[in-house]
Amino acid sequence: MEIVRSVAELRACLAPRRPVAFVPTMGNLHEGHLALMRMGRPRARCLVASIFVNRLQFGPAEDFDTYPRTFEADCAGLAREGVDVVFAPLEREVYPEPQGFLVAPPPIGDELEGAFRPGFFRGVATVVLKLFNMAQPQFAVFGKKDYQQLMVVRTMVRQLNLPIEILAGETVRAADGLALSSRNSYLAAAERAEAPRLHRTLAEVCAQLVDGKKDFRKLEADAVAALTQAKWRPDYVAVRKQADLQCPGPDDRELVVLGAASLGSTRLIDNIEVSLPR
Ligand code: PAJ
Repeated sequence: MEIVRSVAELRACLAPRRPVAFVPTMGNLHEGHLALMRMGRPRARCLVASIFVNRLQFGPAEDFDTYPRTFEADCAGLAREGVDVVFAPLEREVYPEPQGFLVAPPPIGDELEGAFRPGFFRGVATVVLKLFNMAQPQFAVFGKKDYQQLMVVRTMVRQLNLPIEILAGETVRAADGLALSSRNSYLAAAERAEAPRLHRTLAEVCAQLVDGKKDFRKLEADAVAALTQAKWRPDYVAVRKQADLQCPGPDDRELVVLGAASLGSTRLIDNIEVSLPR
């Protein structure tokens, strides 16, 4: 496995080894990330992972400085998965000058996560476009854990005519249902025990939807109330359409229930896709 730090090295190393499958990450890798590597592997002659904690997508009060950085362990995991190239650029390689050009996502980027993390999807879209231009992959793999991010990336690829096929990996969970996340390491033991409630609450909304309930606003409000009751600070629970994350009508069947809530000082997000029976 090669570890490369510069765009020039990356381009030189990938040029003779296409097709490339690319998995962008911010490191502190867990089984969810590694599953994405396995998804990219069969499509590619060269499987590339990037590790870069992107300052542009963190708000001023967010955890950029304390975001867990575990480069050695990450590389060991990537090597075990048969990753060919790790691209781990320094900040000055990605942002050698102030990033004046920014990728502005469509209005859906200001809803849900975007409403609580202003500028987040602009930061994500900008770095993902830059990383795509650096690696010029034929395939890129993203997790459904960050459902709205996946949708924003797919929309960017489509609307900007990027010649890249986006592959989506299912959310990998702990046995108790908690979606794996680098931020789970912030949870104290009692919080970790409580954390699966977010998934359970979203699953309960899904069950109600499958049961034929159509009052989406009430289902959302009940879920928010249940989390608040359990001493969480919910940002939102939302029933949306899978395709574009817009609000569904009564005849829409391919839905996704998304939620974000804080437990102590840790903010967790999750979502569950649900297909309603006819
Ligand atoms: P990061 O949070 O490191 O996640 C990298 C990729 O792993 C994303 O596509 C994310 O959806 C996926 N992932 C995380 N947890 C997962 C889980 N439990 N199951 C399946 N996939 C999971 O997302 C980012 O980094 C950044 O925003 C990035 C796209 C790299 C841009 O900076």
